[in-house]
Amino acid sequence: MKPCCRILINCKNSSSFRCPFPKSRHLSSYYSSKRSKLGGLKRVHTSHSNKILGSKSIINSNRSIFCGSDLNWTQSEAFPTNWVEKNNRFLGIIANVASNFRSHSTSVESQVKENSFENIFIQGGFNVKPLVIETTEENQDLLRTDDRKGKEYKVEIKDGSNVNIDESSNEILSGSRILKSTHEREVSEVEKEAWKLLREAVVNYCGNPVGTVAAIDPADKQPLNYDQVFIRDFVPSALAFLLKGEGDIVKNFLLHTLQLQSWEKTVDCYSPGQGLMPASFKVRNMPLNGRDGEFEDVLDPDFGESAIGRVAPVDSGLWWIILVRAYGKITGDYSLQERVDVQTGMRLILNLCLSDGFDMFPTLLVTDGSCMIDRRMGIHGHPLEIQALFYSALRCSREMLIVDDSTKNLVAAINNRLSALSFHIREYYWVDMKKINEIYRYKTEEYATDAINKFNIYPDQIPHWLVDWIPETGGYFIGNLQPAHMDFRFFTLGNLWTIISSLGTNKQNEGILNLIDDKWSDLVAQMPLKICFPALEHEEWRIVTGGDPKNTPWSYHNGGSWPTLIWQFTLACIKMGRPELARKAVALAENKLSVDQWPEYYDTRYGRFIGKQARLHQTWTIAGYLTSKMLLDHPELASTLFWNEDYELLENCVCGLGKSGRRKCSRLVARSQIAA
Ligand code: GLC
Repeated sequence: MKPCCRILINCKNSSSFRCPFPKSRHLSSYYSSKRSKLGGLKRVHTSHSNKILGSKSIINSNRSIFCGSDLNWTQSEAFPTNWVEKNNRFLGIIANVASNFRSHSTSVESQVKENSFENIFIQGGFNVKPLVIETTEENQDLLRTDDRKGKEYKVEIKDGSNVNIDESSNEILSGSRILKSTHEREVSEVEKEAWKLLREAVVNYCGNPVGTVAAIDPADKQPLNYDQVFIRDFVPSALAFLLKGEGDIVKNFLLHTLQLQSWEKTVDCYSPGQGLMPASFKVRNMPLNGRDGEFEDVLDPDFGESAIGRVAPVDSGLWWIILVRAYGKITGDYSLQERVDVQTGMRLILNLCLSDGFDMFPTLLVTDGSCMIDRRMGIHGHPLEIQALFYSALRCSREMLIVDDSTKNLVAAINNRLSALSFHIREYYWVDMKKINEIYRYKTEEYATDAINKFNIYPDQIPHWLVDWIPETGGYFIGNLQPAHMDFRFFTLGNLWTIISSLGTNKQNEGILNLIDDKWSDLVAQMPLKICFPALEHEEWRIVTGGDPKNTPWSYHNGGSWPTLIWQFTLACIKMGRPELARKAVALAENKLSVDQWPEYYDTRYGRFIGKQARLHQTWTIAGYLTSKMLLDHPELASTLFWNEDYELLENCVCGLGKSGRRKCSRLVARSQIAA
């Protein structure tokens, strides 16, 4: 039987509403009129229990009580009683702000950080995440024509060729074109197998695809949370589907995760801050209370409160923003990013990231394990991966945010942060032969604003391996920077995203690929690509990881090889005009992945063994491979997923610091870096 498609927003204080939704294009007006009839939503729900349910009170041992039975707003009041039965295709649960949202609004400034860039207005004076349900037409083609006619994008790919993407022609961004081109090359058996497995990993919610589980290992008796949809893991799946012309699943994913987003800032222990996106969610099919033999689907997010180590997923919101943009770019359907609820979700994430703390740097200060490396690996502070994703998400937001009076301060803050962040990373994270030699000769304990050794790095910190390893040409961005601490390990994801987003200068970006090419036997070896290099060993492993038996040297996060990284490598190579490097890596992986049953990661110095505890049939391994293949087939589509240097960001200093200022204005310095 089809699961029931009701939705409840659960809450601590027994207030929630359920929503079997009329299938109507005019739902938002239906919603508004129903709402005004109800005299506004007199309910408060706390975001950290944003489990979306299809039913009544559910008690979860890890979370608070989720409710639904004691509604003021009952099904019969809110929606036609037999709606669910009549409409077995539920097509989207979308947090939205109804058209008259602002006119009913009350500022919740007190609940939003004082220095937030805007007020977020919430209907009825309560911090209720407004909900509007949208239905989609049967057989709707999500690869709609872009209605911004006449817009032409000219993308320069660094191999000298220019790709003109004329969106109005509806050629490149249309599904038919994508499918046609894919058929030009014969799809290999390995690809066919990968597609089959990827489709098997798809998770449905109320009959519709909303994501892919992390792994379906046939031999796994203890899936832990690998049976969940991880936000970061879904990105390569999403791109594979988008590039194949299948946008529904991605749209559903984006809107459902938006619904799960932490909405209200609470002071409870272990509750996420406003705007946080979950690390993952699970779709549970549960018996419907009081309805024998009937089941309902429940969306159950994890913000880290169940995760091993209780790590907060800082990267989730950043990936979400990146994916919203990618969806628009590839499908041409910009209406998604223009939706009020999507705009609001984006602003919440940005507010969370851009709020002031005690930190002096433009980089984001995070705890250990807040990204792909989600356990203790000594990356707390300002890890490169988060900074590169942060920069990318800011660039996405800058393109997507609708500018009006309520967002202009936020947009200004984004612009400032972008230039400060790129200056900081380009200047202080970059190492090459010359820079390491400088550090080697650093004087320490300098007390002055114009100190050379600003972070008081002791030359002794230069690790022995690096002295011989750093090539004559090329370089990379270090993993982390803190007072008296440079983490010299090479972290692949962060370096690839500095290329993709142009966080690095063009010269630096080229330098990274030169280094990967030069150090192929270390960073790619038998299986692309090392998550970081080198591994922590001996006492250092014991101290930094806490003696983690999963992260032993050259295993898992500690120098293991992760095939999912190939798609990002491919994107970076295409951007820099070196697709042959990506082809080499893909060919290497392709030979083994299918035979080895698509492992999550590989172990040993040269990536020769399947990882000790690696899941098989790991979805982002499969999807990463497929995405790489398709990106290589369609460099013109790949070009919509990366950014070139934005010269506008280097113009017009707004910080009030002239050349003669106490400090040097970052924009001026950034500009001089480009000129150099
Ligand atoms: C591991 C990885 C994490 C990934 C998750 C699901 O915890 O470290 O990055 O999201 O597995 O695949």
